Amino acid sequence: MLAVEPAFLSRMNDMVYQFQRDADARVARVRRVELALAGLILLTLLLEGRFVFKPAVARIRRTLTDLDDAWVRLRCNEAARVRDLTERQHLEREILEISERERERIGQDIHDGLCQQLAGIRFVTESLVTRAERGDLLEAGELRTLADLGRRAMSVASGVARGLTLTSVSDEGLASALTELAAEATAQHGVLCAHDIRMTDDQIPGDVALQLYRIAHEAVNNAVKHGAPRNVSLALRADAGDVVMSVADDGIGIPEPGVRRNGMGLRIMRHRARTIGATLEIERAGGTRVSCRVPGGAVERP
Ligand SMILES: Nc1ncnc2c1ncn2[C@@H]1O[C@H](COP(=O)(O)OP(=O)(O)OP(=O)(O)O)[C@@H](O)[C@H]1O
Ligand SMILES: [Mg+2]
Repeated sequence: MLAVEPAFLSRMNDMVYQFQRDADARVARVRRVELALAGLILLTLLLEGRFVFKPAVARIRRTLTDLDDAWVRLRCNEAARVRDLTERQHLEREILEISERERERIGQDIHDGLCQQLAGIRFVTESLVTRAERGDLLEAGELRTLADLGRRAMSVASGVARGLTLTSVSDEGLASALTELAAEATAQHGVLCAHDIRMTDDQIPGDVALQLYRIAHEAVNNAVKHGAPRNVSLALRADAGDVVMSVADDGIGIPEPGVRRNGMGLRIMRHRARTIGATLEIERAGGTRVSCRVPGGAVERP
């Protein structure tokens, strides 16, 4: 028994060492697998960072910037809306004032113009009647004076009616309304008002025509009231599909904005131009030139 013991122990020793070696080899294999797994996880995280997180962060940043921009735009729009509203309220007040002043002016026109003419007609007529009753012979010249007074009264009355109703623009069309405006300015104010109308009424929409007429009316009135011109010229033409209307005078020229008196006519002209999407330019050009351009406003004729 004792004789085989050393051999037995040596064998046992070999077995233990073999076991130890196997165990070490298994541990080393497991470590390698662990290392490979750790590398794989690291790689996955890197790929996720590069292809998932980075684009997501960029997208979030872009969205935040867009939101910022939208907020700024919203604030700007809101500010513009408030400005528009204030300007509109201001304009509405001015328009009310103007309609009051217009009524006063029309009353004055009727009183100082028409009533005086009618009083003259009445006076001449009564004196003619008295003389006819006395059996006097009436002279043709006296009757012609009466007819002249009647004609002038009619001209004043039609001017007042035009200011009130403006039916001529819708009934007769812009071309003839402007022609008549020029003729009236010549007859009533003693300036030579020429016109150069190169468009027909079917080329200009009705709402545009009415606003253009009003603008021309104010521009001609301003010219004779403030400019002391010898000539006024009124033009209407098509230019590259736009309608262009202008009133030019050879008077003293409109004062610079800081210097001139603050009336309402110019502001209302601008407002009228805006309502039809037109641009209005007022400049000194050997006098004053007001031009209004309605973009794409000229209707093509077939
Ligand atoms: N064609 C012009 N020539 C010279 N000055 C002009 C002419 N048009 C306008 N102006 C000047 O511009 C000012 C402002 O004109 P605007 O039409 O706004 O007011 P107004 O004619 O004085 O009054 P309102 O039109 O309100 O009755 C006038 O007072 C005048 O000094
Ligand atoms: Mg005016």
